[in-house]
Amino acid sequence: MSQRLSIGVLASGSGTNLQALIDASAADDYPAKVAVVISNNAAARALQRAEQARISTVLLDAVGFPTRDQFENALLERLEAFQVKLLCLAGFMRILSPRVLKAFPGQILNIHPALLPSFPGLHATRQALAHGVKISGCTVHFVDAGTDTGPIIVQAAVPVLPGDDEASLAARIQKEEHRIFPLAVRWVAEGLVSLQGRVVQFRGEPGMSDQALRNPGRRLP
Ligand code: GRF
Repeated sequence: MSQRLSIGVLASGSGTNLQALIDASAADDYPAKVAVVISNNAAARALQRAEQARISTVLLDAVGFPTRDQFENALLERLEAFQVKLLCLAGFMRILSPRVLKAFPGQILNIHPALLPSFPGLHATRQALAHGVKISGCTVHFVDAGTDTGPIIVQAAVPVLPGDDEASLAARIQKEEHRIFPLAVRWVAEGLVSLQGRVVQFRGEPGMSDQALRNPGRRLP
């Protein structure tokens, strides 16, 4: 693989999705690599995961930046310094302003632990359980100005089982997250997706997207 797409991962927590991206990019034919991991939380396990993988880390503690503008100036500066071309939000607990969206048009992905447009926002798994849905899952989508409202790239469904609590359902969902986030990044990095209005379409042979979406664990041909 000649030139891999440089991704910046923004993470505030345990970083299991970051880990999935790191693990995926260990494959020779993976078209992206994690150039930098940025966190707003010094205690984020994501930072340790990055260090273990010898990936550069940046801590941007919001406390050190009195305004959102100042925080985002620093963020944009670092992303530019690491020549980031694609931004992956992997449990990043801050909303990005339209300024950041403008700097990365169609180049920001988010992973959300529900089948959007159901249950956007915080505590999606709790919301799904409280609502009594029988199927939940996860969604990788492009980020737009709303909260979890952007165009959907790929989703995976899991059953909600009798006796599930937030932890058991979250664990089932996370297993799928770790599968579809690297997959969506691959598709974007390979230039296989484009937007038709708010609908994500797959370039390539007719039927390819159907095949991929029926079985998102499989590599595209
Ligand atoms: C994931 O469940 C993701 O869907 C949500 O935040 C969580 C991050 O988990 N946006 P991790 O830090 O990747 O383990």
